[in-house]
Amino acid sequence: MSSPIRLAILGTGRMGRIRAQHIFASPRFEISAVVDVNLAAAEKLAKEFRVANFGTSLEGVEYDGLVVSTPTFTHLSAIEGSKDNTPIFLEKPIAEDAEGIRKAFEIARRKGNTLCCGFQRRFDDTYVAGSTKVKNGEIGKVVNCNVIFGDHPCPSIEFLKEGGDIFMDLAPHDVDYVLNTLDDKVKSVYATGCSSDPILKEAGVIDNATVLCETVKGSVITLTMSRSAEFGYDQRCEFFGVKGSVSVGNVKKHEATISNAEGITTSVLAHSFPQRFAQGFAAELDGFADVLEGKKEWPVSEEDCVHVQNVAGAAGISFKEGRKVNVL
Ligand SMILES: NC(=O)c1ccc[n+]([C@@H]2O[C@H](COP(=O)([O-])OP(=O)(O)OC[C@H]3O[C@@H](n4cnc5c(N)ncnc54)[C@H](O)[C@@H]3O)[C@@H](O)[C@H]2O)c1
Repeated sequence: MSSPIRLAILGTGRMGRIRAQHIFASPRFEISAVVDVNLAAAEKLAKEFRVANFGTSLEGVEYDGLVVSTPTFTHLSAIEGSKDNTPIFLEKPIAEDAEGIRKAFEIARRKGNTLCCGFQRRFDDTYVAGSTKVKNGEIGKVVNCNVIFGDHPCPSIEFLKEGGDIFMDLAPHDVDYVLNTLDDKVKSVYATGCSSDPILKEAGVIDNATVLCETVKGSVITLTMSRSAEFGYDQRCEFFGVKGSVSVGNVKKHEATISNAEGITTSVLAHSFPQRFAQGFAAELDGFADVLEGKKEWPVSEEDCVHVQNVAGAAGISFKEGRKVNVL
């Protein structure tokens, strides 16, 4: 019987907690340490998952793989500070811009570390089923792809004012998924958006945006994103091909339906990303275990990460300058 893979978790915020839950649930792993600059936060998560070793630094910690769930601006230093010859799972994005992403992969190569960037749609059963149909040619050449990203619950105005760039936070997930499905790249983007709240408008923050992408192979991708889907986490994607269409649909909170003379009522959608992508997050870590055991390569490449970041960055410029922006 082989022993479980020892993973250290760096960062115990929203994503660190989700990762801990799925690592804890997998027989392939054991959590060797929980690390956070905030010692109380590290201790809290460690106690919850019965991990004896917690602290504010990776110094002296033994691990076979590292899971980095810290804020994006800290990812480079996390890679620098990691053990050599160790696979690292990193939350998206690897860094805040393409240059930072290149640097991160360069540092990792130097240290002999593999970087595995998390994009959970690549592992989600529904999204994978959709992309497999498209990749198998079942709808012929795809001419249009329409994405809906309705966030839920709506983040606070403070969060949106302080950061919360809709192009950087939301768009990369679907851009990566659609481009991987189409085996294509984005040539140019045009983006526009609006604020649903006067306070956000005054602060120059948009919470609704549409991005129109033209691809190298000649498809058109539209991403419509909103911070406030009142009925749950609304995630849809439709590919229109010359021979048919493929629709990646929503996941509801439950499947009970009430039918009466007033109409037919069903549930709201899954609450948010931890619920909607629970299966994808678990499968993503299983994919990381495959990398650690030398069974598979990680599917998201450096080029994928750089291109997605460039598309998100170009969308931001397009919105600010009111013009189409070339990516390639
Ligand atoms: N895949 C997804 O759907 C998804 C969703 C949300 C966030 N993310 C990504 O996950 C990452 C983390 O986001 P979050 O929302 O969990 O952040 P968060 O703010 O909730 O948590 C970050 C944690 O990291 C700790 N931390 C900060 N600097 C550190 C350092 N240098 N060393 C150790 N610990 C440190 C903080 O104390 C905090 O506990 C970001 O890169 C973000 O883009 C991905």
